[in-house]
Amino acid sequence: MSDNIFYELLNQDSVFTDKSKISPHYAPEKLPFRDQQIKDLSLWLAPALKKAKPHNIFIYGKVGTGKTTVVKHVIDQLENFSKDQNLPLKTIYINCRNYQTKYAILFYCVQLFYPDLNFIGYSRSFIYDKFLTYVKENKLNFIVILDEIDKVKEIDDLTYTLIRSNDEIDIGSVSMIGISNNIFFKNNLDSRTKSTLCEQEAVYPPYNAEELKSILGQRVDLAFKKDAITDSAINAAAAIAAKESGDARRAVMLLLRAGELADLNRSTQVTDKEVYQAKEKVELEVMKSMVLTLPLQLQLVLFAIAQSSLKPKGILNLTGQAIDSNIIYSGEIFDKYSEICENYCEKAVSIRWFREYITELETYGFISTTISGKGVKGNTTLIKLGIDAQSIVDLLEEDFKK
Ligand SMILES: Nc1ncnc2c1ncn2[C@@H]1O[C@H](COP(=O)(O)OP(=O)(O)OP(=O)(O)O)[C@@H](O)[C@H]1O
Ligand SMILES: [Mg+2]
Repeated sequence: MSDNIFYELLNQDSVFTDKSKISPHYAPEKLPFRDQQIKDLSLWLAPALKKAKPHNIFIYGKVGTGKTTVVKHVIDQLENFSKDQNLPLKTIYINCRNYQTKYAILFYCVQLFYPDLNFIGYSRSFIYDKFLTYVKENKLNFIVILDEIDKVKEIDDLTYTLIRSNDEIDIGSVSMIGISNNIFFKNNLDSRTKSTLCEQEAVYPPYNAEELKSILGQRVDLAFKKDAITDSAINAAAAIAAKESGDARRAVMLLLRAGELADLNRSTQVTDKEVYQAKEKVELEVMKSMVLTLPLQLQLVLFAIAQSSLKPKGILNLTGQAIDSNIIYSGEIFDKYSEICENYCEKAVSIRWFREYITELETYGFISTTISGKGVKGNTTLIKLGIDAQSIVDLLEEDFKK
């Protein structure tokens, strides 16, 4: 019995008491530094409790600023309250990474309304009719939460359809909460969509080191054994995450991975040494999750850059000398991008939009760009990938298969 590897594994000493509490998936009961955001959101949704249409809401903030956690927290409370009071309210949380079209989103809603029926194969108009009929018949106040809304391919059409349905409803309503960490998302909406979706708006600021320390402190007590983690380890995780991005997910993951490293080394305490050791691994995980949450077109451009970086032709000056083999002409990337779009049956955007996307990718820190100066043919943008090209190619190839 004692020879069994699992026996040994389970009995191995660990710095954790409950590892799940330091996982990024754990939703704490208390959300420090988000009181105002919670209050605002409750106020904007409160009309639903008086059988009126709540505001449409748009929430923007950088990664790990608590958007998803806050919205789920408030929606849970709203649902519980309305159940207690027997109010006709329903909400649906949709991560648009998994549901990217208007049809997929409406289909998901209808499936929620009629869990025992199967709507596969029905036409779009039938699905929309079912959607509307259910809301009408139940005099429902229905709130659709669209997380990672920048992933939706037909956002103007979806917003129009959902909100227009209110014209056909006498009692009840349909409203939306959109969530995004993409600064450029709003710029790309048509003005009617923008004014509809952003009836109320909130911007969640990044956390500073002190705030992250306190957020971590709350979770450390639940996740680690007493004295199994030093104060300086917590400070180090908070400082690293604050410096990089003010991202609570990164801070939480640093402590999780540092704890795992301590366990692996059979150490009884997590110190700043493990936190610094965990940094690189966490950075890679954060980068991967950022790439996966990018809108499709940005992913395609990044994929083209990564692919071109694997076989760089290099930039030559007028005398034919290589200046830097990791730098690529933007024109070369545009050609690669067009080819990739064709392979994946996606419509390629114009060169103007392509340039926008290059700027976006630079803002997120994936690439750096310079304008070619003297000595290089023409006057063109030169692009350099700041992360490992092969990791990006592997990650996106896998994601595109889904
Ligand atoms: N105020 C807070 N108190 C405690 N934990 C928090 C707080 N804000 C965020 N977190 C934690 O940080 C992690 C990331 O939060 P969340 O997923 O809500 O971020 P997000 O803003 O939705 O990020 P993204 O843009 O990447 O989706 C989660 O584990 C969450 O529990
Ligand atoms: Mg989120």
